[in-house]
Amino acid sequence: MQFTTNYGLFIGKNLITLKEVDSTNSYARELLANSGPVPDGTVIMAVTQTGGRGQAGSAWLSEPGKNLTFSMILHCGFLPPPDQFYLSIAVSLGVVDVLKPELGGRASIKWPNDIYSGNQKLGGILIENILSGNRLKSSVIGIGLNVNQLSFPNLGRAVSMRQLKNAVFDLELLLGKLCHSVEIRYLQLKAGHWDRLRHDYHDDLLGYGAPARYSADSEEFEGTIRGVTREGKLLVESAKGTGTYDKKQIRFIF
Ligand code: BTN
Repeated sequence: MQFTTNYGLFIGKNLITLKEVDSTNSYARELLANSGPVPDGTVIMAVTQTGGRGQAGSAWLSEPGKNLTFSMILHCGFLPPPDQFYLSIAVSLGVVDVLKPELGGRASIKWPNDIYSGNQKLGGILIENILSGNRLKSSVIGIGLNVNQLSFPNLGRAVSMRQLKNAVFDLELLLGKLCHSVEIRYLQLKAGHWDRLRHDYHDDLLGYGAPARYSADSEEFEGTIRGVTREGKLLVESAKGTGTYDKKQIRFIF
């Protein structure tokens, strides 16, 4: 399978298609560490990942040839480390911007950067930053999207675009659209459009402004997401006031 991407200015213009690799994120990191300069926007996509990695040391499982598993290399030295979460905002928005029209609006971001449809997980993003001293040098942005897979044994919450739309999606076309769309959001980030990105992120955030059930400190409660902090922590208002949570501290109860 040889893919090309025909949209956009730089993301996906240098596209490396691999039949099989352990993890496209690991491949991208090795490329950055061991070869000469890697063009900004290089994308590595794999038909099969044998050791796909998810957040918090989890595995990312994907049926060979059915879904999109790829990583983008972005040289985002312009981004001050305290604002790294904005990269996560830009990438997740780039993904939902493509999925919403494909799925009749049924796509959102589950904080911090999971891609959901209703209460089912369509995709995930794993961002790994490469620092030089205390400056950000490059980021490897791994995206796994469930596209044409029809069943997810033992992954209760997973769903694919095909299951939602009862249609088969062209992986190459979708990859091109995603590269282009992430590029648009990344250029907004580069141009310093923080407020716009934050506003759009809140608009697409699952549970934003709507009461729902959460669990934190072994306690279940009703709360309403009011936004995210600059560092990417979640702000949830409840009867006790507004709490600030990191990923390990709070769980959504669906
Ligand atoms: C998550 O846990 O939600 C993040 C999943 C990220 C998976 C993608 S698939 C392509 C890239 N390569 C990896 O090993 N992981 C990411």
